[in-house]
Amino acid sequence: MKKFRDMNLEERRRYLEEISGKNFNSLETDLDTLNRLVENVIGRITLPVGVVFGKINGVDRIIFLAIEEPSVIAAANKAFKLSDWVIASYSGSIMIGTIYLKTDNSIALIQELEKIKDQIDLIAKTKLQRLEKYKGGYIQMNISRFDNIRGEFVKLEFLINVGDAMGANIVNSFLEDISIDIEKLIGQRAILRILSNFSIHRKVYIKARWGEKLKEEIQSKGLDYKEQINRFLDVISIAHSDIYRKTTYNKGTMNGISAAALAYGQDWRAIEAGIHSYTNYLQIPLVNYWEQDGAIYGSLEAPIAVGSVGGSVKSLNHAKTLMEISNIKDSGDLAMLIGAVGLANNFGANLHLTIEGIQKGHMKLHARNIAISIGAVGDEIDKLVDIMIKDGKYSYEYAQKMLEMIRHDNSNS
Ligand code: MEV
Repeated sequence: MKKFRDMNLEERRRYLEEISGKNFNSLETDLDTLNRLVENVIGRITLPVGVVFGKINGVDRIIFLAIEEPSVIAAANKAFKLSDWVIASYSGSIMIGTIYLKTDNSIALIQELEKIKDQIDLIAKTKLQRLEKYKGGYIQMNISRFDNIRGEFVKLEFLINVGDAMGANIVNSFLEDISIDIEKLIGQRAILRILSNFSIHRKVYIKARWGEKLKEEIQSKGLDYKEQINRFLDVISIAHSDIYRKTTYNKGTMNGISAAALAYGQDWRAIEAGIHSYTNYLQIPLVNYWEQDGAIYGSLEAPIAVGSVGGSVKSLNHAKTLMEISNIKDSGDLAMLIGAVGLANNFGANLHLTIEGIQKGHMKLHARNIAISIGAVGDEIDKLVDIMIKDGKYSYEYAQKMLEMIRHDNSNS
């Protein structure tokens, strides 16, 4: 059977239908629907969507990335392929909503709020009762205070389990609603009511191991395994010590996370804002690695607030189709998929940087795309790619000339 990468687009879709047991429906959304989604619509833009094959918690998964950058999809595929296992877990879909009150005496206001806390809890529980049939509902309210140059503030932090929705609308509507009740109880207007994207109670935990297969890969390049994993860990350690490297290192992780979020119609800005605050809060990079029993272990812990129902997921055909093919069960499942591909991308990038730099793989992919676009098929593709890389020439004209030469040689042999 043909390798997935050697299939044409139609063959790839049919293959995905076969292994997922689902229909590959349209990825495009009509302009009428888009016109109703946001303001001042003038058209739509497109991006390539590619596939990553991974095994997460022992289950084969199809993961989609929407991205314009070459090598990202290849890096994630390679990382999954070389892994011994990737496991993932999810904290639950708990979102945070905040109400801020300005006051002359924050201590007195907190005392007053503590006295009516049970009453507020009851109102909140009632207002969010409808979420209980989706395994969600109100959890608790925390009260805290701070001051700044504008004076003293009290913060009410509501924890809400939003189930399979991303939850921004649920939380913001709830906050605007309950703030009216709270204002009546304390006789004071709230100054700000808004969801927090610092979703630290909605996290994924991903862990993976790279051992035997990584060793084989490194040795197949004629390199010493022990030396290369030491080099890899040195490379990783730089991200822990230097903000310039940490930023790019995290960007490599976001290549997977943001591209997957985009493919599945998610609010990628919310995820990015949450994750960058989280790594600053932790004061460490998003992904960590260590060595154990001669293998590399990697882990990622990140807030990832996504929804498998509602919002734009309902209106965007690409989100519906890709979730269907990926067999997304719920919002936790989607968050784990996104987190796992983030770790895979980070590993893939750092492995390349350790061993050969990223440009070689990048140019190979570039050459492959040229070879396919000028009509090379079967083993002509690999032959042509090898020639282009050896000669360091990547123009269409040169590829065409070399393809003719390969065909000429083939017909003579
Ligand atoms: C490029 O999009 C991502 C990398 O720069 C990530 C990294 O440096 O770790 C390759």
